[in-house]
Order: sequence, then C-alpha cells, then structure tokens
Amino acid sequence: MTPLEYEFLRRFLKERSGLDLSADKQYLVESRLIPLALKAGLSGIAELVQKMRSGNDALTGEVVEAMTTNETFFFRDKIPFDHLRATILPELLQARASRRSLRIWCAASSTGQEPYSIAMCLKEMGAALAGWRVEILATDLSAAVLEKSKAGIFSQFEVQRGLPIQMLVRHFAQVGELWQLNADIRAMVQHRQLNLLHDFSHLGSFDVIFCRNVLIYFDQETKGGTFGRLARQLETDGFLVLGAAETVVGLTDAFRPFPERRGLYRPNIPRAMPPGVVAIYQALTSAALTR
Ligand SMILES: C[S@@+](CC[C@H](N)C(=O)[O-])C[C@H]1O[C@@H](n2cnc3c(N)ncnc32)[C@H](O)[C@@H]1O
Repeated sequence: MTPLEYEFLRRFLKERSGLDLSADKQYLVESRLIPLALKAGLSGIAELVQKMRSGNDALTGEVVEAMTTNETFFFRDKIPFDHLRATILPELLQARASRRSLRIWCAASSTGQEPYSIAMCLKEMGAALAGWRVEILATDLSAAVLEKSKAGIFSQFEVQRGLPIQMLVRHFAQVGELWQLNADIRAMVQHRQLNLLHDFSHLGSFDVIFCRNVLIYFDQETKGGTFGRLARQLETDGFLVLGAAETVVGLTDAFRPFPERRGLYRPNIPRAMPPGVVAIYQALTSAALTR
C-alpha cells in the first residue's frame, strides 16, 4: 500500500466511523482489507481504493465494517454488571416506582453478548421488575454483528467466555454444537443499526447508557462531542457505563464519576434546574466542549 493510499483510507475511516488510525497501522489495514479486496474480485488495495474513489457505495460500506473491531464477551469486565445489580437498578427501581418503566441503551453492542448480559441480569431480578416495561436497545454501526446478535446463537467458545454455567443452563438451549438464547431473553432486546457519529436524538431519553469499548477508537475531539450528545439522551438521574480503559476525565464536563464505582458516571447537571433549563444547559455545555 502506498503512503497516499493509506492516507486516503485513514481519512475515509475517520470520517465514516470515527476510527482514528495512527501512522503505523498499515499492517492492520492491509490484514483486514486485502482479503476483502480479493473476495470482491479485485487485485488488491490499489484497485480497492480506486473503486472507493469512484464512489462504490456497497464497497465503502464493506470497508467500514471490515475495519471495526467486534471483540466482546458475556459479562465483560464483570464490575459494570455488579454496578448494574447493586447500584443502578436499585436506585432506578426507587426513582421510577410510579412510572414503572426503564429504558437501557447499549450503544455499541457488537454481536450481542453485552445487551444479553444486561437482559439476563434484569430477568434474574424476577418479581422486582414484574409489571415494569423494560426496553433494551442494542445499536451498532455494523449490520453484520447486529444480524448475529438478533439470532442469539453462540458457539461453545463464546458461551465459555464470561457466562456463568448456571446462566448457560437457565437461559440457553443447545442446538447441535451451538447455543441459542431462549426466546424470552432475545425478546427483551431490540436491535437497530446506528453510527455514533450521526445524530441519535430521535432515540429519545434513556435511564442507562452502556457505551463501552468503542470510544477508545475515536480521537479526543470526537470522544468529547459524543459524550456531549450522549448526555443529552440520558435522564438527569440516569447512568452512563464506560469500558475499563475509558474515562470522561479531561474530555467533557457533561458527566461526573459516580463515587467509588469505577466506570460509572452521571450527567453533570445541577440538581435544582427545572427540565426546560436542563435542555438549554446541556446544549450550551456540549457546544462549548466541541468547539
Ligand atoms: C470492541 S466492540 C465493543 C462491544 C461491547 N460494547 C463490549 O464492550 O464488549 C466495538 C463495537 O463498536 C462498533 N462501532 C465502531 N464504530 C462505531 C460507530 N461509529 N458507531 C457505532 N458503533 C461503532 C463496532 O462495530 C463494534 O461492534
């Protein structure tokens, strides 16, 4: 790959998915895109770039997908799910007792292990959530991972990563060498393709947002802007859950860490503000941060 071809791909990926590739990642691009080019009947990266420059939409979409990293597993990092059971849900069960509804957004859900881990936690709360309307929305940029997630079928290797054996027995059925999540858990999760770089205000507001292990691929400015927009979709007493290697510190004032709960954040809004003023405050703070 020539330096010019690499620069074209780097810029294209940054603009389309937020992926911020440093100057030394040619090997990564080649390892993902040479197989894609050959499968499409092209001679290699040079011809792929040529086709992309001439505006081949199907191919550009495939390039974006091929460059996503979809690594995930059930109950990844464990701690966020401890927080969900011990802090987030008990607080929200009290705060939403009169309206009896919860909306949870898993904002880069990959092949489904994360939203289904959340669904299993909720299911196992049993009577505490009886009569509640609970919505779990799983979104991702990649159509391919969403298809796999919707099917809810996992390999032996995938169910051995992070999933407690009791949960496997309770919530999955064996289908040949694979494992399918039971229909009741699958039905708890709605799927939708969504690019975090695009407007997502139409999704409405959520009580909890899991946005884990995706912002690590963005540059500082894109992270800051995304935090500002996420804050606008979160109820003022809601929770943001980030990945183990992620933080808001130094990137945004839209969230503040929840004391003594690693990876857990709340919108940073003065409690006394009436709802109309909250919207103006959030718009102003996120505009200031993305400037
Ligand atoms: C490493 S996985 C993380 C999955 C899960 N959140 C977890 O922590 O296990 C990152 C996911 O982010 C998705 N992704 C990458 N860029 C995105 C973007 N701009 N908008 C939405 N999703 C994106 C990828 O397709 C991938 O499935």
